[in-house]
Amino acid sequence: MAQGRQFNNSTKTLKRNFSEHTQSSSYAKRQKLLKHKASLPIASVEKRLVEEVQKHDTLIIVGETGSGKTTQLPQFLYNAGFCGNGKLVGITQPRRVGTVSVAKRVAEECGVALGEKVGYSIRFEDVTSTSTRIKYMTDGLLLREALLDPYLSRYAVIIVDEVHERTVHTDVLLGLLKNVQNARSKSVNNDQQLEKESADQCLGFLKRCQRRSPLKLIIMSASLDARIFSQYFGGAKAVHIQGRQFPVDMFYTYHPPQYYLDASLTAILQIHLEEDPGDILIFLTGQEEIESLEKLVKDSLKQLPENNKKLIVVPIFSSLPSERQMRVFVPAPPGFRKVILATNIAETSVTIPGIKYVVDPGFVKARFYDPNKRLESLIVIPISKAQALQRSGRAGRDGPGKCFCLYPENEFEKLEESPKPEIKRCNLSNIILQLKALGVDDVVGFGFIEKPSRQSFVKSLEELILLGALTDEFKLSNPVGRQMACLPLDPIYSKALILSSEFNCLEEMLIAVSMLSVKSIFFTPSEKLEEVRTVNKCFESPEGDHLTLVNVYRASNEILEKWSGDSGLRTENHYKIFRKWCKKHFIDSRSLRHAHDIHSQLRRNVEQMGLRIASCGDDLLQFRRCLAASFFCNVALKQPDGIYRTLANDPMNELAVHIHPSSSIQGKPECVVFDELVETSKKYIRHTTMIDYLWLAELAPQRYALENQV
Ligand code: CDP
Ligand code: MG
Repeated sequence: MAQGRQFNNSTKTLKRNFSEHTQSSSYAKRQKLLKHKASLPIASVEKRLVEEVQKHDTLIIVGETGSGKTTQLPQFLYNAGFCGNGKLVGITQPRRVGTVSVAKRVAEECGVALGEKVGYSIRFEDVTSTSTRIKYMTDGLLLREALLDPYLSRYAVIIVDEVHERTVHTDVLLGLLKNVQNARSKSVNNDQQLEKESADQCLGFLKRCQRRSPLKLIIMSASLDARIFSQYFGGAKAVHIQGRQFPVDMFYTYHPPQYYLDASLTAILQIHLEEDPGDILIFLTGQEEIESLEKLVKDSLKQLPENNKKLIVVPIFSSLPSERQMRVFVPAPPGFRKVILATNIAETSVTIPGIKYVVDPGFVKARFYDPNKRLESLIVIPISKAQALQRSGRAGRDGPGKCFCLYPENEFEKLEESPKPEIKRCNLSNIILQLKALGVDDVVGFGFIEKPSRQSFVKSLEELILLGALTDEFKLSNPVGRQMACLPLDPIYSKALILSSEFNCLEEMLIAVSMLSVKSIFFTPSEKLEEVRTVNKCFESPEGDHLTLVNVYRASNEILEKWSGDSGLRTENHYKIFRKWCKKHFIDSRSLRHAHDIHSQLRRNVEQMGLRIASCGDDLLQFRRCLAASFFCNVALKQPDGIYRTLANDPMNELAVHIHPSSSIQGKPECVVFDELVETSKKYIRHTTMIDYLWLAELAPQRYALENQV
């Protein structure tokens, strides 16, 4: 008994000491955060910024990356009382990762748990509550919210951040917010009029209840040129925040190098051997290039004398698993220098401390979409002036730096001012369906900041009609179209889910669509292609990749269920086992977990829609027929020479394509459906599954019946 008490007492003491310790360390951490906040360039202009927001309904704020715009401005507005009556300050970001990390940071700065005063919402994940007042979200998510609340009446202020990136969602959002702002200020004026007219009447009271306050709109950008946004918003005022940027010396080559990878290697070694301590950041165009240069640098270091070998090479690109991405933030050991080989992810999305030297070959890989051929190409193109400035600026974050451009100085003047907006180089089907659902009937006449080409509109409208989302008069008046617009997915995926309920394979299609919705499940280092294939043989379906993805998902589910046992609870330990399993199979565990989350939400969505969830079991024919019935715009036929050819209305738009080497499909089936057509070194169709050509006339007569009759 006595022993027991003593034991308990000592546990209490231990606990108290532990909690005192954590309290004091969290106090120290908070003090550090507060000091950091106060040191940001934006801190000195808080009062002025708040006044400007009070004065103007639309304001443009321009400031160098790192000046504190994203993290601080929402807090300033909250503290200034903009969140009265339970209203929110909403901040949109172009990327999911950025949204989550910035919300976490701000919650920490405010000393609250994430999801309380500060929260975030991204597609398939909502970490907010009724007490949330500062809400970070992706631009795409706010567009979806407008479907349910067209006046965005919960928001007092909406901040559209990183507008210089010009993502397709940002562009559409700007047009939409302009309309919402007009409608809300009109409704205020009308209501005031109404109040005057019927002050004593019940109607007046009702109207007062519904009255909306005007919407404050803030557009934030890291690029210096705010003119285009100011013009778009009728000459809105732009405020510039002076950043804390140290001078960067610029160096150029006399001639453009023949091979910029070789030139990059020379530049890195020269800096390493001749310049003062400080890390190097080099901008390349993709994983393959990064891996080649990594090998070149490592091989060259082997030739150097021992004391010159102290250079650590760290890659970062978006398909690299996140744990490995984090390595760029680990400081090099004393006496060592770090060289980071990055894609344009390090231009604005990720800020890496300690960079003193930037090497810029001047190229970037960009996506372009050809609506006629339905072909997405990844093309290496010269960067824009805005990107060149952004890149060189990375060298001057912590002190004076140097930027080595691997092109002649006069080439700079020839560069475009800024990158081509995404809306001009992507498939518009998804956006058109959303605009239609928002009640924008004349999508071509919608006030885009820059209008996409007529051909992109035509082709996407055609696709939506073929999928049954729009009527022949371009109206969203049929139930299928409305159901499709409700799902947060590309129209083809939505169609596949809706149809699969009829084909008795919604279980399988939910998995396939969830897996296709994440960036990339497998992480395949180029030199390990064979090994990846061998360990993943057990999942491979000879009939195609959609089924392979279903197999991977089910196997991972078994792992999770096996370890979470009867309670169904999954602890960090279960996820540790899950991560180990993923690593063994070259799977990016975060992507796969994301696919699991997407699956749960989509399952809820289809349940709410009343769709029948059934599994086709071993009858995989049903699943493949359903794929044919929904992916019929993405079909390729084998030619006598063994190469595939896509099917298009106009033979001029048909393309010779190859099944991607990572595909599990076996033999060379006569006819396949595919998820995407991407041009890299060749034109590849990715995620393919074999179908029977004859099914098409039966399952997609709207597209193939005519062809059959001919
Ligand atoms: O939006 P802007 O680029 O102007 O700056 P910010 O994102 O508000 O970041 C201001 C500072 O907060 C950065 O320089 C970082 O030092 C810090 N920060 C951070 O440590 N972690 C984050 N997730 C975001 C910001
Ligand atoms: Mg920012």
